[in-house]
Amino acid sequence: MAQNYTITTAINYPNGRPHVGHAYEAIATDALARFHRQSGRQVYFQTGTDEHGLKMAQAARARGVEPIALADEMSGHFREMADGFNISYDRFIRTSEAEHHAAAQKLWQAMEASGDLYLGRYEGWYSVRDEAFYDEKELVAGEGDIRLSPQGTPVEWTVEESWFFRLSKYQDRLLALYAEQPDFVRPESRLNEVASFVRGGLSDLSVSRTSFDWGVPVPGSPGHVMYVWVDALTNYLTGTGYLDGTEHYGAFWPADLHVIGKDIVRFHAVYWPAFLMSAGVPLPRQVMGHGFVLHRGEKMSKSSGNVADPLDLARRFGVDAIRYFLLREVAFGQDGSYSDEAIVTRVNADLANSFGNLAQRCLSIIAKNGGVVPASGPATAEDEALVAAVGERIAAMRAAIEDGQGGYPRLDVALATLWEAVGLANEYFTHQAPWSVRKTDPARADAILFVAADVVRRLAIAARWAIPEACGALLDQLGQDADARDFASLDRPLEVGLPLPSPQGVFPRLTLDAPAC
Ligand code: MSP
Repeated sequence: MAQNYTITTAINYPNGRPHVGHAYEAIATDALARFHRQSGRQVYFQTGTDEHGLKMAQAARARGVEPIALADEMSGHFREMADGFNISYDRFIRTSEAEHHAAAQKLWQAMEASGDLYLGRYEGWYSVRDEAFYDEKELVAGEGDIRLSPQGTPVEWTVEESWFFRLSKYQDRLLALYAEQPDFVRPESRLNEVASFVRGGLSDLSVSRTSFDWGVPVPGSPGHVMYVWVDALTNYLTGTGYLDGTEHYGAFWPADLHVIGKDIVRFHAVYWPAFLMSAGVPLPRQVMGHGFVLHRGEKMSKSSGNVADPLDLARRFGVDAIRYFLLREVAFGQDGSYSDEAIVTRVNADLANSFGNLAQRCLSIIAKNGGVVPASGPATAEDEALVAAVGERIAAMRAAIEDGQGGYPRLDVALATLWEAVGLANEYFTHQAPWSVRKTDPARADAILFVAADVVRRLAIAARWAIPEACGALLDQLGQDADARDFASLDRPLEVGLPLPSPQGVFPRLTLDAPAC
C-alpha cells in the first residue's frame, strides 16, 4: 500500500456562513485523514473556500461590498469552523490566492495546447445557485411553469461570448474510465447517474464568462474570466504543488480521495477528469459523493429558519460529541438527519454511558488502589475471550475503512463495529466486578483491572480518528506518549507499574436544557 495519501474536501462557497452540512463534510474527511495517519501514512489533507463566480459577485453586490471583502469575512468563518471541529487540514486554500490563479492559468494553457479550447458564443441556461450550465432537456418544470435546474434551483437564459472546452471529445474516454475503474465514483448509485448522463451525450462546455470580472483571468483573452468550476476544481492541483511541479506534487498528486456532496458529483466525475485528461495530468483515484445532512428530516434552508451554526452545536454539546454523532449516525454515502434529541440520545448511550462509564470505572478503581498500572496475572478464559473479541472488532473497524463496503470507506459501520467491543468490555467489567474480587483475591482484582485498562487503551487508539480530543485525554490518563497512539501501538500493552494521573471523565452526559436548535 502506498505510503502517501492525499484527501480533500470540496471547497466551500463563502457567500454565507457555514452550516452543519459543511461541518459534516469536513468532519468525515478529517476522520479519514486521521485514520490514514494513524495507519502510518503521510497524509496531505486540503480544504478551503471557492471564492469566485457569479454567486459570490451577486452576494457581495447585495451587501454593498466588494467580492473580496465578502470572501475575506466568510472564508474566516469557514476556517474557524474547521479549527473549531479539530479539522487537521494541512492547507486551507483560498481560490483568490495568487498561486491559485497561476495554477488555474497553467491548467488552462495545457488544455489549450491540446486543442480543446475554442472561442464561441454561449446561448443557454445557467443556474447561479449551482454555478452550472444545463441543457434544455435537463430542466424540470417548477410552480407556475417556471423552469428549474435538476437540483430545483432557478435558471436564467444567458447569452455571451465564451471559450468552450471540447467536452464532447471525452465521452468515450470517460465511459471507459467508469467501466475500467468503477470505484472512481462511489457509491455505485452516483456512478450510475454520471455514467448515464455521459452516455446521453455531452455538449461542449462553456468555460469562460464575459458578463462579470470576478474570477481568474483567461490567459491572453482580455474580458474573459474562467468559469468558476474550472478554477475551483484546480484548487486540488494548486495545493499539491502543480504550478512549480514541486517534490510535494510528485509525492501527493494524484489525490487518493475527493470527498464531496452528492450535488456536485457531475463536476468532479465528468468535467474534472476530462480537464485533466486534456491537460495530460493523472486522474484522482476516487470521488466519494456523500449524502446530505438534514435537520429533522428536512433540508436546511434560510427560509425554513433551520440553519444552525455548527460551532453553536459544538459549544452546546461538545466537539467530539458532534463529530461522533455525525460520523456514527449518518450512513456514509447516504442522507442523514440530526436533532437535539438524536444527538443527546446517541452521545449519552455510546459515549457517556458506554465508553465513558467503562473508562471511568476502571481508572477510578486503579486510582484508589495506588494509581499505577496494576500487575497482570495469568489470563482466564474470560480475559482471553475479551482480548480476542476486541482485537477482532478493531480489525473489522479498520477493514470497514481500509477495504470499505461497496468500494468506499464506511465510517458509520467502522464505529458501530468498534462500539460492539466497547459493549463487550463493559459487560466483562461488570461481570468480573474487580471491586468485589479485591476483598478476597487482590491479585486477581489487579489482573482484571490490567485487562480492562489495556482494553480502554486499545479502544482509545482505535477511536481516536473519530473523537480525537476525548481519546487523547484518555490516552493521557493512561500515561501514553504521543508516539504510542497510532495503530502500530495497539499491541504494545500497558507497562505494569506505570504511574497514572488522576482520572477525569472525558464524556460528559448531555441534557436537552440548552436552547433547542
Ligand atoms: N464550491 C462548490 C464546490 C467546489 S469543489 C471544487 C460548492 N460549495 S458549497 O459551499 O455549496 O458546498 C460545499 C460542500 O458542502 C459540497 O460538497 C456540498 O455537497 C456540501 N454540502 C452542502 N450542503 C450539504 C448538506 N446539507 N449536507 C452535507 N453536505 C452538504 O458546492
